[in-house]
Amino acid sequence: MRLTLIQPDDWHLHLRDGSVLETTVPDTAQSFARAIVMPNLKPPVASVEAAKAYRDRILSAVPEGLHFEPLMTLYLTPDLSPQTIKAASETDFIHGVKLYPKGATTNSDSGVKSLDGMMPTLEAMAQYGLPLLVHGEVTEREIDIFDREAVFIETILAPLMQRIPTLRVVLEHITTKDSVDFVKAHPEMGATITAHHLIYDRNDMLAGGIRPHLYCLPILKRSLHRDALVEAATSGLPQFFLGTDSAPHAVGDKESDCGCAGCYTAPHALELYAEVFEAAGRLDRLEGFASLFGPAFYRLPVNSGTITLEKRPSVVPMSRPFGDTEVRLLRGGETLTWSIA
Ligand code: DOR
Ligand code: ZN
Repeated sequence: MRLTLIQPDDWHLHLRDGSVLETTVPDTAQSFARAIVMPNLKPPVASVEAAKAYRDRILSAVPEGLHFEPLMTLYLTPDLSPQTIKAASETDFIHGVKLYPKGATTNSDSGVKSLDGMMPTLEAMAQYGLPLLVHGEVTEREIDIFDREAVFIETILAPLMQRIPTLRVVLEHITTKDSVDFVKAHPEMGATITAHHLIYDRNDMLAGGIRPHLYCLPILKRSLHRDALVEAATSGLPQFFLGTDSAPHAVGDKESDCGCAGCYTAPHALELYAEVFEAAGRLDRLEGFASLFGPAFYRLPVNSGTITLEKRPSVVPMSRPFGDTEVRLLRGGETLTWSIA
């Protein structure tokens, strides 16, 4: 069996920087024509100039013969000004601003503690049509890690959207039924869904042994939430689109006393999504999710190329080179049912 799709895009991706771009950029570019590139570098990508320079470094790592367009984002630091928003909106390569609540995840130290002082910047984003890409988790120690997304929606996101109704919002890597319901209730907003949150629940990570390579943020939830995500991704609703949140870390940083959050899925993400859609009996809806709904939200043209998947088993490599070390792949060593033709 073969399945030809309009070439997809990845609407949430971490490529990192430096020598690892030699792995991360080709791994994504073999399946995806474009990707929204996260700005959580050290230091963060927080100016038009920094985004342009990072984009150039990414483009230098695109293999000959492949076409790949990095869609850049700025990091919402407390100093990000309305002037920078205006300048970003006038470029053709910056497509969003990422909100990391301070302390929520990898390299989020430069994020904002509260949105109260950020209203002029957020209002400028609404004015110039630049979307806010949201890592939706509160960070208070006393809030249980499994509740942090739901509490964020109630206490931060809903009030923000009420205050600036014209702000365009993508709730990134949603992990709960609460998020699915919230997104459906706000038809103007979008949401990305990762492959790992469609495949796994928290038992997979924690029962019968702790699996550090399944640790990501927002953390995997109980299975009823995974079921809601599968239902949303395969619903055909254009608000839900593909964003891998592929987030590589060196193997030693994952298998550690204090392991980093992130799953590396870029090399085989499309094949993973195909398995999920097939299991749901909804392969016919994969193209919308992977190739059509993201461009519609971001007001970009749909890609002109195609990609063909075929039902042919392939074994996922255990790891990929990562600078002078390696990065483990999600489902490394396991057999996938779909392959790129
Ligand atoms: O699992 C994650 N990894 N979640 C994030 O929000 C950040 C990402 C990373 O940059 O490693
Ligand atoms: Zn991410």
